[in-house]
Amino acid sequence: MTILGIETSCDETGAALVEKHDPGFPQVIKNTLSSSVEIHAKTGGIIPENAAREQLKYIISIVKEVLGDRDPKKEVDAIAITYGPGLIGSLLVGVETARTLSYIWNKPLIPVNHLYGHIYANWLDKNSEDKITFPAIALVVSGGHTDLLLMRSHIDIEVLGATRDDAAGEAFDKVGRLLGLPYPAGPLISKLAENGDANTYDFPRPMIASKDFDFSFSGLKTAVLNEVKKSKPEEQDVYNICASFEKSVVEVLVKKTIAAAKTYNASSIILGGGVAANEKLREALKSFDQALYIPEKKYCTDNAAMIAAAAFYRNTQVSWREVQADPQLYY
Ligand code: KG4
Ligand code: ZN
Repeated sequence: MTILGIETSCDETGAALVEKHDPGFPQVIKNTLSSSVEIHAKTGGIIPENAAREQLKYIISIVKEVLGDRDPKKEVDAIAITYGPGLIGSLLVGVETARTLSYIWNKPLIPVNHLYGHIYANWLDKNSEDKITFPAIALVVSGGHTDLLLMRSHIDIEVLGATRDDAAGEAFDKVGRLLGLPYPAGPLISKLAENGDANTYDFPRPMIASKDFDFSFSGLKTAVLNEVKKSKPEEQDVYNICASFEKSVVEVLVKKTIAAAKTYNASSIILGGGVAANEKLREALKSFDQALYIPEKKYCTDNAAMIAAAAFYRNTQVSWREVQADPQLYY
């Protein structure tokens, strides 16, 4: 089966062709992405209308590019589309395009929750001898979410905890803004952190000792703000702040994820979302016993291949009439 995936929930416009044979994992045939990140870097964050306008410009050419000279009527079996959560204007661009293509090509639509997409990025491009076993603990860490989930199977998924305020990626982006760094600041903070000493500042590890699986990152951001206000940081101070801040975030994420894995006897730990591209987080989790799955970095941040991948496992095929964008969608 071959699925065309389309993703436009935030600032990226993505399309991908992914195929899967039974038994076997989804394999990416082609994955394309057009980002409007340069525009958002100039405005210091995403202005939703700007994101949607850019997506309107690119969506058709991205779909055409991913299809190449394939005839979609013969070589695409279904269209997977992100229908939420996300920015409404952005979601509508993808959803309305997918509905139109579904109608014209007479192909079913598979509506996909973006958050499941981040989880199923782990199933992409695996070898046939690989397997991801349940129960698994999944940590979704993106710009909008920090969620810990217990996956007992593909259909039995329970939310164990979530952030009470800022998401992990949001904290990276907000701290970046305090330091005058362009959006999205996550990758840059971790790069600058390489030149810093992570033990310089003793920033808080919010909720690290709480018995639940919730998170909170706004206090950590405020602690960084207070430090920046004390005296204008010089270059080396910025490196040290980045390293100390990153260490706090990683410690909290790792501690809670491992605690959840132990509590629920998980045989696998699964990571997903843009912050899963963070090298320190990836390294820190590798030192534990459970089998660890982290997508390739290009599949951590938003992309359409992960949306197609999720569609193979959460395969509700519907008519174009039945799909609507849902910006508040949760699990
Ligand atoms: O999953 P994603 O592409 O979009 C959402 O669904 O939100 O995640 C984007 C977030 C941004 O906040 C970005 O700063 C963060 O992921 N991010 C990182 C890294 N790469 C992206 N955070 C920390 N370290 C990174 N290497
Ligand atoms: Zn995302």
